[in-house]
Amino acid sequence: MSKAAIITGGGSGLGKATALRLAEEAVNIAVVDIDEEGGNETVDLVKKEGADAVFIKADVSKVEEVKNYVDKTVEAFGSIDYFFNNAGISGSGEYYLDTEISEIEKIVGINLMGALYGVRYVAEVMLKNGGGSIVNTASSAGVIGQDSVVTYSATKHGIIGLTKSMVAEYAKDGLRVNAIAPGPTETKMVKEFYDNNPKMKENAEAGIPQKRLGTPEEVAELVAFLLTSKAQYINGEVIRIDGGFTNTK
Ligand SMILES: NC(=O)c1ccc[n+]([C@@H]2O[C@H](COP(=O)([O-])OP(=O)(O)OC[C@H]3O[C@@H](n4cnc5c(N)ncnc54)[C@H](O)[C@@H]3O)[C@@H](O)[C@H]2O)c1
Repeated sequence: MSKAAIITGGGSGLGKATALRLAEEAVNIAVVDIDEEGGNETVDLVKKEGADAVFIKADVSKVEEVKNYVDKTVEAFGSIDYFFNNAGISGSGEYYLDTEISEIEKIVGINLMGALYGVRYVAEVMLKNGGGSIVNTASSAGVIGQDSVVTYSATKHGIIGLTKSMVAEYAKDGLRVNAIAPGPTETKMVKEFYDNNPKMKENAEAGIPQKRLGTPEEVAELVAFLLTSKAQYINGEVIRIDGGFTNTK
């Protein structure tokens, strides 16, 4: 029987590339995003690959909308085998003491609360069905400290805690939970961030041993590997995919 995946933030960047990569493996996909246009575009592309897909509009920071995307996926595909818990935003790049409280709350609401809610309801379904595999999107900023991204970095360190501690509780029941920690990768989020902070792009490239940003397709390859049974005995890991960036810190 075909496997089913939920991808949050599936309308763009890493989520979209992963949807297309999993479609190559005939995985059915629930594309969850706040952006209807981007989400539907991904659905069309997945269907062109021959897999089935549905778009489910949700703001991942709202718990009722998270419950709804979980229920709708089960209605559509009967199970949830894979979960790419990925939706996130970056922030303005201001130093922390110049950051508005509303921005701090927004980043925490989407990046951390959204991820916690997602795992809370998706894992419940997976465990009823004997297990499943989750990949949470952390970041380089989740494994090292960096300026201009204090709140973002706090949420991404939180994602790593969520990943490791879920394994401590539920690996014995068939759940695998891993995290990826990408360095700067060429997606809409990064483009917008660097358009507002051009100096940071130069600094970023200079600081990466491979002297370039990553691509969404490179990240999608890693996520597909971690989600599927090829990575059966990998659990609670944080895999850095950053051209050597954090390795040199
Ligand atoms: N691109 C990078 O360099 C990079 C590096 C490390 C980590 N990340 C992380 O990767 C993840 C994906 O980012 P991306 O680079 O693909 O960005 P992106 O902006 O291309 O895609 C993010 C998607 O998430 C959606 N989204 C935003 N807020 C949402 C909400 N409240 N509810 C539902 N969907 C929402 C957006 O509409 C968008 O489609 C994020 O968690 C980000 O922090 C990205």
